[in-house]
Amino acid sequence: MAAGLGTRMKSAKAKVLHEVAGRPLIVWAVEAARAAGAERVVAILGHQLDTVRGVLDARYGEGQVEIAVQAEQKGTGHAVQCALPVLEGDSDERVVVILTGDAPLFASSRVADLARACLDSSSGMAMVATRPSRQAHYGRLVRDAGGRLLRIVEHKDATEEERAIEEMNAGFYAIKLGHLRAGVAALRTDNAQGEFYLTDLAEQAAGRGGAAVIEAPFAEVSGINDRVDLAEVAAAARRRINEGWMRAGVTMTAPEQTFIDADVGPIGKDVILGPGVHLRGAVRIGDGSHIDAGCILTDVSVGDGAYLKPYSVLSESEVGARVAIGPFSHCRPGTRIDDGAKVGNFVETKKTHLHAGAKANHLSYLGDAEIGSKANIGAGTITCNYDGFKKYKTVIEEGAFIGSDSQLVAPVTVGRGAYVGSGTTVTKDVPRGSLALARVRQITKDGWADKFREAQEKRDPKREG
Ligand code: UD1
Ligand code: CA
Repeated sequence: MAAGLGTRMKSAKAKVLHEVAGRPLIVWAVEAARAAGAERVVAILGHQLDTVRGVLDARYGEGQVEIAVQAEQKGTGHAVQCALPVLEGDSDERVVVILTGDAPLFASSRVADLARACLDSSSGMAMVATRPSRQAHYGRLVRDAGGRLLRIVEHKDATEEERAIEEMNAGFYAIKLGHLRAGVAALRTDNAQGEFYLTDLAEQAAGRGGAAVIEAPFAEVSGINDRVDLAEVAAAARRRINEGWMRAGVTMTAPEQTFIDADVGPIGKDVILGPGVHLRGAVRIGDGSHIDAGCILTDVSVGDGAYLKPYSVLSESEVGARVAIGPFSHCRPGTRIDDGAKVGNFVETKKTHLHAGAKANHLSYLGDAEIGSKANIGAGTITCNYDGFKKYKTVIEEGAFIGSDSQLVAPVTVGRGAYVGSGTTVTKDVPRGSLALARVRQITKDGWADKFREAQEKRDPKREG
């Protein structure tokens, strides 16, 4: 169920599109269902239908997650009514698990437990109860003296006595499709909110012996209603993700300050993540690599034994084994750094391939470039890849040496093993094995400085300096 806007988020964006650990809330629910082995997943959407559908199609393939539309939100029971036509051909015996779209930490194992409890119950229905650790306006579970679940009463409809009940409805259900069909058709809106309550299915199940109830910790089921909840749940997700990686052999020097998206992985053994590291999107890291303080990696793969020194920022890049990067390097999309290459401080790369053992140790911009193995890029080298209209490529062949403070005006090629003298502006191809030099010849005037100073002092003896 993901049709609501989530008014309390105070957002232009539908609630289920807000993210926890890099994943929209709706994706968390879909992942839990799929991991539990769901044969079909149907998302009930309303607000920002097209945007939410786009997110699901992009991730799972078009139509893989089926869509039911609830154009107007008349309650959770109405939401499910809107989904039933999608399940039209399915058997009455099929178990339908209903998840609320705004509770991302609900475990896939719990989805499976819920389905099993439904199959085991003569009522053909199961639900999840929780005991909130703080005040929560949840539905209360009303049981009879024998413990049978009689009904769920919504907070707004509850008497003082009922509000004292601590066992509450977490908002997750499993029910056989036959009972669901008959049940939602019978729902009415004679309640405090004038809505179709899905929770009324519990009262119907009481007549069949009572719905089965499984319990889950509040931290796992608590839904997100506002941005305070969002931050709280995100912190809980982060703890869970980080604990998982630490148990898998990753060292975190400051786990509270390490931010790893849910879809990151694998991360190899003996990887060290320093404080303030962010791994976003799809990141993979090989064994024994060290990602030092403040590095931010988005959609990056790193080989074994690499060292990313502090405050390096990498996006959509591939880093090989034993590569050293940073501190303060910026690798933009399309960067490839092969085994043993080095990218040093204040080097920016974009669509650039440094082959094995190449080095750019200081202060460079390398864009749209192919840099051969063991080539050496001196401090301050700049590829001039853009003429204001188009981008052009720079090719530096194997073992070439680019002297400091050179500009390479693309398109241009520096041949294998060639030298470019410091301060050269290279505008023409440099053949292999040659030297290119393009700078003003140095003039040296003997004693010029001494004479100059003397003359100045005579003219103005009081002048300091
Ligand atoms: C619901 C339960 C309540 C339970 C609580 C747990 C009902 C009547 N009440 O309350 O017993 O304790 O969840 O969080 O079900 N949605 C739709 N269409 C709608 C209404 C809701 O898709 O017409 C979706 C929302 O987008 C959300 C989910 O259903 O993802 C839950 O809706 P919400 O309004 O938050 O439920 P509550 O009224 O809080
Ligand atoms: Ca509501």
